[in-house]
Amino acid sequence: MARKIPLLPLRELIVFPHEVVPLFVGREKSINALEEAMADDRHILLCAQKKAKVNDPKPEGIHPYGTIGTIIQLLRLPDGTVKVLVEGKTRARIEEYLDTQRFFQVEAEPIEAPKINPEDDPELAALMRSVQATFENYVKLNKRVPPELAVSVQSIDNPSRLADTIAAHVNFKLTAKQELLETESVRSRLEKLYELMQNEIEILQVEKKIRTRVKKQMEKNQKEYYLNEQMQAIQKELGSQDEFKNELQELEDRIRRRKMSKEASERLKKELKKLKMMSPMSAEATVVRNYIDTVLALPWSDRTEDKLDVEEAESILEQDHYGLEKPKQRIIEYLAVQKLVKKIRGPILCLVGPPGVGKTSLAKSVARATGRKFVRVSLGGVRDEAEIRGHRRTYIGAMPGKILQGIRKAGSSNPVFLLDEIDKMSMDFRGDPSAAMLEVLDPEQNQAFVDHFLDLDYDLSEVLFLCTANSLHTIPLPLRDRMEIIELSGYTDEDKLKIARQYLVPKQTELNGLEGVDILMSDGALKELIHHYTKEAGVRSLEREVSAVLRKLAREHVKENRKKRSFKIDSKMVQKLLGPRKYRFNRVEDSDMVGMVNGLAYTPLGGDLLPVETTITSGKGKVTLTGQLGDVIKESATAAVTYVRARSLTFGLEPDFYEQVDFHVHFPEGAVPKDGPSAGVTIVTSLVSALLNAPVRRDVAMTGEINLRGRVLPIGGLKEKVLAAYRAEIKTVICPVENEKDLHEVPKNVVRALEFKFASNIDEVLRWALADLPADHPNQALRTFLSTGSTVGPDDWSSIREWIRERERKERSAREADHGPH
Ligand SMILES: Nc1ncnc2c1ncn2[C@@H]1O[C@H](COP(=O)(O)OP(=O)(O)O)[C@@H](O)[C@H]1O
Ligand SMILES: [Mg+2]
Repeated sequence: MARKIPLLPLRELIVFPHEVVPLFVGREKSINALEEAMADDRHILLCAQKKAKVNDPKPEGIHPYGTIGTIIQLLRLPDGTVKVLVEGKTRARIEEYLDTQRFFQVEAEPIEAPKINPEDDPELAALMRSVQATFENYVKLNKRVPPELAVSVQSIDNPSRLADTIAAHVNFKLTAKQELLETESVRSRLEKLYELMQNEIEILQVEKKIRTRVKKQMEKNQKEYYLNEQMQAIQKELGSQDEFKNELQELEDRIRRRKMSKEASERLKKELKKLKMMSPMSAEATVVRNYIDTVLALPWSDRTEDKLDVEEAESILEQDHYGLEKPKQRIIEYLAVQKLVKKIRGPILCLVGPPGVGKTSLAKSVARATGRKFVRVSLGGVRDEAEIRGHRRTYIGAMPGKILQGIRKAGSSNPVFLLDEIDKMSMDFRGDPSAAMLEVLDPEQNQAFVDHFLDLDYDLSEVLFLCTANSLHTIPLPLRDRMEIIELSGYTDEDKLKIARQYLVPKQTELNGLEGVDILMSDGALKELIHHYTKEAGVRSLEREVSAVLRKLAREHVKENRKKRSFKIDSKMVQKLLGPRKYRFNRVEDSDMVGMVNGLAYTPLGGDLLPVETTITSGKGKVTLTGQLGDVIKESATAAVTYVRARSLTFGLEPDFYEQVDFHVHFPEGAVPKDGPSAGVTIVTSLVSALLNAPVRRDVAMTGEINLRGRVLPIGGLKEKVLAAYRAEIKTVICPVENEKDLHEVPKNVVRALEFKFASNIDEVLRWALADLPADHPNQALRTFLSTGSTVGPDDWSSIREWIRERERKERSAREADHGPH
């Protein structure tokens, strides 16, 4: 209901219901209004002025919405002004100005807050809760609001009162506060309040962030300033400033004198200028100094005179290496082409072969033949582009990549640069080193090679790059496409003997200080080394063993005061000097064994014997495979078992034999992981032999993939495998018929020394590999199959089984008699 009430215009202030505020009143009209109120019921209407600065506002300059307050206390101050304490009660709207002369008297309509119980209105309750939570956040961020207020706000359950109490305490702009005051609907007032608080919180958060940042920066600046001052004081004490000046002078001279690209010398001058401004002991100065040193240490325009006399090159390669006719010839052709085109062009030579066959040593000879410096960098294990190209200088401990480090080591910009083990590079998430290598090797791009550390163009176009790899398969394809492959395979024992006699012994004699002493190594001694102290495709271990023998002789020579002028070494002497033999050369078993078959494997280190051994025990058809096997070889073993099951009748096996036995297939040789499909025939032969108790010829070795129908399929690496069989003194090699065409790659003397059998199916393999059955072996079906190749029907299985059991019992007791019972 509208009522008559005196009005007090407020400057810069809005009073909400429930708020208690002290007011200082000085304007005469306002004091009159207060007096009027005091004389009546102490009620007064509090409305904000639209413009705070106006001293004598007109009704139009006053907001029509305000709060009716009660005067709690009134104090007259000596200067004539008045201090009052008022408490807001209800919001009200001015309807009409009744008097504006002595003071403002108005007709005002109170706006009562509606009585809503939030419990009946869940939406409103939720809104209140959000507002309360937001206010709590706000209080946490704004230090000026007393935290107790947040607590008391939590307990307000009247929505209108909640909105007004918060509105009174949050630091909103006056217009926002006025708007809140004028919003009659409680719900929209709460919503507005919520939005305003969110804004305010965001602002507070940003402010806080800025504050901490500024604080940190100030602390850091102060610390740096302080430390710098201290450092300078220390330097002054130590007189290092002078030293630094000398060093800078020296660097300047070196930069001036060094011949390098224009880009490089300009960069160095700039870096030097930076260095001068730095404190000499600082980390930055070290980085800059390191950079300048690195750039200065590169050869830039230093190069060696290229001599390219093809005939002389040929004779140098010949002098340094025995055999290797094809590789030598290819290298000479390559050099001849380079000479013709004057500039290094075309594919990069890549020497591929097992360790110790002379790859590195051929590359060195190329350097010698062309008069270039030689540098070798191993790429084994490189998996990161940065190892090739360097790390950016911002990275702590940054260095140039392997290429420029190599160039620096070579000391000339046109060395023979050997990229060793290029097949051992790998790639992962850090990037692909082969992409960087492609750029290094591409004559179109490598005249402006950019290393990340150097960050300058470096000309690699005069470098003669050569690569080596153990195997072709793992060279990244794009790289392989840029290469011309020269294959070096393993040596035969005769080759090794000649290499040892003509190269390794003389070289090691000299290296061990035995020049002028007669060293007579017999063929027997060298063969002893080759067969029993080494096992390799190349001659690296052989060289090491030769050196070991000579080292021992050198010691003896010194001990005996160098009186003895000649030494004779035979195989006995070798054993005496080096201790017991390390390898059994004739690794083939001494007698034909059941279940034991010689397979042949192709490894990155050359070929090798790969024996397979199967044991049968009574059981339920379980197959166990052991000996570091890959997935392919496991699959191949499973196929072998399936095949044997399918052919059980032919071999005189009971159709359900499979349910009575367990298989254990073991690959005993060495610790190298074995994989590949080419052990198929070996596994089948071993299984059949073990199942039937039929011994396998010990002088036979075999290789071949099989399919489920028993066909023998071609394999890779025939040459390496045949060489391995030859080294192991195998007599007969069984291989797939489709590999017959590869035989021409094998040295003639090796082919002549071996008997070759070319199989198209497994039956042939078995007939060649299984030895004659013992006379008392009752398996007539198998006997017929082995002698005629034709298959007969089933046999008397129970007597065969009985016979096999009996044999096994005997063997077991014989073994126990040998070793004693366990
Ligand atoms: N055909 C060869 N004639 C003479 N020495 C050889 C021959 N092959 C290898 N060597 C010697 O054997 C050692 C090992 O050769 P190396 O070049 O290091 O092999 P790779 O780099 O292929 O592993 C070297 O001392 C090398 O001179
Ligand atoms: Mg090498």
